[in-house]
Amino acid sequence: MAGITDAEFLNKVIPYGFDVVTLGGYSLDEKTINASAQILNRGRKEFHFELDEIIPHITSEVALIKKNNPQVKVSANVRSATPQPIAEASCIDDLDIIEINCHCRQKEIVTIGCGQELLNRKDLADYIAYVVDNSKTEVSVKIRANVEGIDTLKVAQTIEDCGADYLHLDAMDPNKLDADWDILEEVCNNTNIKVIGNNSIDCEDKIKKMYDCGVYGFSIARSIITGKLDFNI
Ligand SMILES: Cc1cc2nc3c(=O)[nH]c(=O)nc-3n(C[C@H](O)[C@H](O)[C@H](O)COP(=O)(O)O)c2cc1C
Repeated sequence: MAGITDAEFLNKVIPYGFDVVTLGGYSLDEKTINASAQILNRGRKEFHFELDEIIPHITSEVALIKKNNPQVKVSANVRSATPQPIAEASCIDDLDIIEINCHCRQKEIVTIGCGQELLNRKDLADYIAYVVDNSKTEVSVKIRANVEGIDTLKVAQTIEDCGADYLHLDAMDPNKLDADWDILEEVCNNTNIKVIGNNSIDCEDKIKKMYDCGVYGFSIARSIITGKLDFNI
């Protein structure tokens, strides 16, 4: 979660039993860094670092997590207009997973063709394949389901065909305050990629429901910041 999930935050969360934690989202290139500055200016939380600061910053954040939790995999969720800075960020010491953010829907990010807007780009497959082919870490792609005009299953299959290791699927249902369980099941049944199911987990029953859909793993965001996570994983 941009502006929230730094190493200090994640080190507090790890004792609940997480085996993977995600830093970021971070903006890696000039265009997305400018967009982050605009988002900050209108009062929303963001991580904002200059071009020459961002890689050293992520490097030190990864080290802070690994120092006390060497067994935990660390992922960095990142945005960039072009794939090259993402592949470069994958070289960060001890980073386990680089996650391409095809999820952010803040207007400043979408306007420059990044975040969720990547799903509309004709070069989406080339972009992901470049990161996969040039990264030192595993590659995850984070998307949101039910984006208007986007066929979620088709995008999931494209991501699998590009060779990504994980599909991190925010199964958001715009019409209810619950995950879209049908789309999760449809994607799991029709792909072989490791699907990390996400959205609205706030109790153990929902974790079970997610596994029943066929996910490889699950992730939790808002329940952690609202303090609703009252169970161990
Ligand atoms: C304040 C806030 C910031 C977020 N920032 C990011 C981000 O930077 N990158 C990303 O991929 N998802 C981001 N998300 C989305 C969450 O990671 C997650 O996909 C979404 O909240 C649904 O999961 P949940 O129901 O467990 O919260 C953010 C969500 C919130 C509430």
